[in-house]
Amino acid sequence: MSLSPNVAAALETQATLELAAAQNYLAMSCWCEVQQYDGFARFFRKQAAEEREHAERLLKHLTDRDVVPHLGAIAAPNIAFKGLMSVAQAAYDLERANTRGIHQAYEAALAEKDYPAQVLLHWFISEQVEEEAWSDKLIAKIRDAGCSGALLSLDRHLEKILGGDSGAD
Ligand SMILES: [Fe+2]
Ligand SMILES: [Fe+2]
Repeated sequence: MSLSPNVAAALETQATLELAAAQNYLAMSCWCEVQQYDGFARFFRKQAAEEREHAERLLKHLTDRDVVPHLGAIAAPNIAFKGLMSVAQAAYDLERANTRGIHQAYEAALAEKDYPAQVLLHWFISEQVEEEAWSDKLIAKIRDAGCSGALLSLDRHLEKILGGDSGAD
């Protein structure tokens, strides 16, 4: 089944959004590294790699269906964070924006009765449930860590705290 222009555009837009998320997570990772939060830095590096993989999945679907994707421009990521909470808030916002993008792409696939794209997007829809869950938890855990000692302990155990599969794929 050949891709309709609407579905192709929606998948291209989403691939660009995933790459933009990767850039943002990379910037967050660098910020955390400079602040000596090595656990957070590792965690966001991993998120950056995952977002890139998500983009690759979308691009592979496009090229498998004979479309050379138009990739969009990516704005420079923010690096002016006030603290870990503002980093976590940015991650939260990124994941919400990503979910909205996935749902829009899915709606395009539904409207065009594009079953292969729908199946592709099912994976992304459930992936976003996990991504939103860890970003919720991240905010809650930072809020609970009142003192710098508690933040350091959170940094050390971050990956375990956010769940074994928070960085899976
Ligand atoms: Fe993603
Ligand atoms: Fe994500």
